[in-house]
Amino acid sequence: MADQDSRAGSRYTTGELLDFTNRVHAAHDAGLSAAFDAPGREDMPAIQVGASEGKTLEILMQMIGAKKIVEVGTLAGYSAIRLARGMADGGMVWTIEFDPRHAEVARANIETAGMADDIEVLVGAGVDVLPTLEAHGPFDAVFIDADKGNYDKYGIWAADNLRVGGLLIGDNAFYFGELLNESKPEAAAMRRFHEQAAERFDSVCVPTPDGMLLGVKR
Ligand code: SAH
Ligand code: DHB
Ligand code: MG
Repeated sequence: MADQDSRAGSRYTTGELLDFTNRVHAAHDAGLSAAFDAPGREDMPAIQVGASEGKTLEILMQMIGAKKIVEVGTLAGYSAIRLARGMADGGMVWTIEFDPRHAEVARANIETAGMADDIEVLVGAGVDVLPTLEAHGPFDAVFIDADKGNYDKYGIWAADNLRVGGLLIGDNAFYFGELLNESKPEAAAMRRFHEQAAERFDSVCVPTPDGMLLGVKR
């Protein structure tokens, strides 16, 4: 039974194995590598999703025929490009970024990837910008990847603004391994995000390196 025990975590995972599966399934073309490599080039934190998580976003958008997607946390545009590549023709990604310099780098990468008409980068804090997007809703997918202390608020916004069958996705759902830390307010917000998601979505936390919460709106 030990092999089936999810608490065994990454006992089979090695760097070489992940290199192989990333290369076979989630390789980068020029557009994706420009965005993925930008944080290293531009003195920004390299905290973009991994190649396999990025491809997962793309596949999920394909599966639900997503046309209206909201992202909180753009960085250099890598995950936004992944989301946009998976969406149906005529779709749109609205991605929110607090740091104007990150937004500028992201816009350049999005242009390079040929997706300037498909992705709109909005500068501001998620909690301030999300209400301005509501008129475009209901949305097919919401991807949360910034401002961990407000994940609970973002999750409620998503539940209120997704269509039935729409998808909530939350990166860093293990909160860097600190999810159960009782002394960190951000960890408590992340636990509320999980609990509220379980109430309003069919949900699961996929054990990626730092956890990815998935919820289908009821
Ligand atoms: N989703 C990106 C990575 C996002 S990293 C990818 O995988 O490619 C988190 C980003 O969120 C950073 O660029 C940071 O500047 C931004 N950010 C931080 N706080 C924010 C907030 N309150 N609202 C919007 N963006 C925020
Ligand atoms: C950080 C943020 C992320 O979204 C992530 O996936 C990894 C690290 C950070 O703020 O350090
Ligand atoms: Mg993240």
